[in-house]
Amino acid sequence: MEEILTGKIAVVTGGSAGIGYAIGRRFASSGAKVILASRQPQRLATAAKSIGDSAIAIPTDVSDSEQVQRLFEGFERVDILVTCAGAAVFGAIDTLPVAEAQSFFAGRFFGQLAAAHYAVPKMPVGSAIILCSGIAASVGLPYYSAGSALCGAVNSMARALAVELAPKGIRVNAISPGLIEGTDIQSNLSKEQVESFAESTRARIPLKRAGQSNEVADAAFFLATCGYVTGQIIEVDGGWTAS
Ligand SMILES: NC(=O)c1ccc[n+]([C@@H]2O[C@H](COP(=O)([O-])OP(=O)(O)OC[C@H]3O[C@@H](n4cnc5c(N)ncnc54)[C@H](OP(=O)(O)O)[C@@H]3O)[C@@H](O)[C@H]2O)c1
Repeated sequence: MEEILTGKIAVVTGGSAGIGYAIGRRFASSGAKVILASRQPQRLATAAKSIGDSAIAIPTDVSDSEQVQRLFEGFERVDILVTCAGAAVFGAIDTLPVAEAQSFFAGRFFGQLAAAHYAVPKMPVGSAIILCSGIAASVGLPYYSAGSALCGAVNSMARALAVELAPKGIRVNAISPGLIEGTDIQSNLSKEQVESFAESTRARIPLKRAGQSNEVADAAFFLATCGYVTGQIIEVDGGWTAS
């Protein structure tokens, strides 16, 4: 039986782990050819192998726009772009080095902008871009001012691109994960700090639990396949922003 994404080419940055990997696997199981892009080649190759023949691995650091350009040079067409590459940088405003905040933006914000920049000329009518922001755009998270600003910037970029690219038949949306557990997310917090943050956060979430990567993949699949949704930010957060 033909799957809904058969014949589609999907590029997923940050596809070697966590949310990006779950999205890549979901798209591949629905018939897409999936290109996974992230930095560590071995982990990326293992991820692609575990998905199977429909996934290929292209090592790429999205903070380097020349590498992002090379990533897209290899394809005549891109039907779906998902930009999940990134980490989290915490710190009080008066102690987090400005250079660290700048390099955070270089990867997680400008990596998404660069991917859209190089993908759009290859995207036919009917294609979709799914950016990745985060709950921090919508709730005040202390010690995460740079991350909060970054997530807000991604959401704003999604809305602007949705309007800009609608005449080309390209839809643009963002997934905004809340607390998602079981990923490999890197941050500058200690293991104990991460656990304490997660514990206090779970108590605030109406569904009283963290989400899973597969649940973010469900949202990405919806955005990839529903042809009349564009310019939306889909909060995958167990009701956190609603509370
Ligand atoms: N987990 C959460 O609770 C949560 C909440 C809100 C938002 N988010 C955001 O969702 C996205 C995915 O997070 P996750 O939890 O799935 O994290 P993850 O498991 O660590 O996955 C992150 C992926 O991004 C890649 N990556 C990181 N920096 C990169 C770079 N400069 N160039 C290319 N690839 C890069 C990583 O591989 P390499 O290290 O090998 O490059 C990995 O494949 C991130 O942007 C994260 O900030 C996550």
